[in-house]
Amino acid sequence: MIRVEHLTRRFGDLVAVDDISFDAAPGRITGLLGPNGAGKTTTLSMVSGLLRPTSGSIRLDGISMAERPREAKALLGVVPQEVALYEELSSRENLEFWGSLRGLTGRELSARIEEVLHVVDLAGRRDPVSKFSGGMKRRLNLAAGILHRPRILLLDEPTVGIDVQARAHILDVIRATAEEGATVLYTTHYLEEAEELCDRVAILDHGRILADDRVDDLKRSLGEGSVVAVHGDFVENEFRRAFPWDGPIHFPEDGRAFLTTGRGSVARLLEQVLGCGLSIEDVSVREPSLQSVFLQLTGRELRD
Ligand SMILES: Nc1ncnc2c1ncn2[C@@H]1O[C@H](COP(=O)(O)OP(=O)(O)O)[C@@H](O)[C@H]1O
Ligand SMILES: [Mg+2]
Repeated sequence: MIRVEHLTRRFGDLVAVDDISFDAAPGRITGLLGPNGAGKTTTLSMVSGLLRPTSGSIRLDGISMAERPREAKALLGVVPQEVALYEELSSRENLEFWGSLRGLTGRELSARIEEVLHVVDLAGRRDPVSKFSGGMKRRLNLAAGILHRPRILLLDEPTVGIDVQARAHILDVIRATAEEGATVLYTTHYLEEAEELCDRVAILDHGRILADDRVDDLKRSLGEGSVVAVHGDFVENEFRRAFPWDGPIHFPEDGRAFLTTGRGSVARLLEQVLGCGLSIEDVSVREPSLQSVFLQLTGRELRD
């Protein structure tokens, strides 16, 4: 398991990670969800032992990263945000390189390479990686991360910029890895992905954890209300005057308002909005989702 306590990292005056604590359990996929610049990569780099924390502690299966870094790192498989492959080598040659760094040799290494190439559906490819599509490179990057059967797998936005099929395949492999008992920590800025994949999600923004819970419980506690999105020709003050609403409301820009309401009172709210006398062009209702949780926590929408 991963245990992070009071972790902070500064870059000069910038506090990229600000006193965060969380656990990730074995056999589970824990999500670290946040927009670009939230501090996801900085957090993962510290958990990987690549970046020294300014303060705070990291324990991997009880082993302190600060005190016993070699033992802690030996537990890890890491799938970095930037694809880390040798373009001129084939997929097998790339995996031979990564496997040998992890202490795999001979028959064990070649058998395991065939196994993971099969898992990521690249067994038939013998050409250099430079010929691969973005999705194939991402799959090979994942194969390199799981080759040595790590007990803890860290993934930094492993599905950015790839097609739907490659994404589905990668998510399946990650699920299978967790089902085999590994602790998986997964960062993403895709809400739908966190919702679909993760057992537990910590929402990160400006280096801080705003919420950390099971996905269902997050939705129940924070996103319980449906979000009514209103578009029209109005500014914030006008809207507030015409429509005194005491529930949570956000105005991301002129002409847009998001109101959160309890599940039973959507119809009444819609009636009131449409009858408020402003020029309303469009109204839509979103059911509770991580999107509405995020909106409520940050006042912003998280977009791809
Ligand atoms: N090596 C660095 N030096 C200075 N600032 C950095 C460095 N790495 C990250 N940052 C800053 O820290 C913040 C968090 O970055 P990062 O962890 O990469 O976010 P994310 O992965 O969530 O997009 C950003 O403001 C980024 O510009
Ligand atoms: Mg990042």
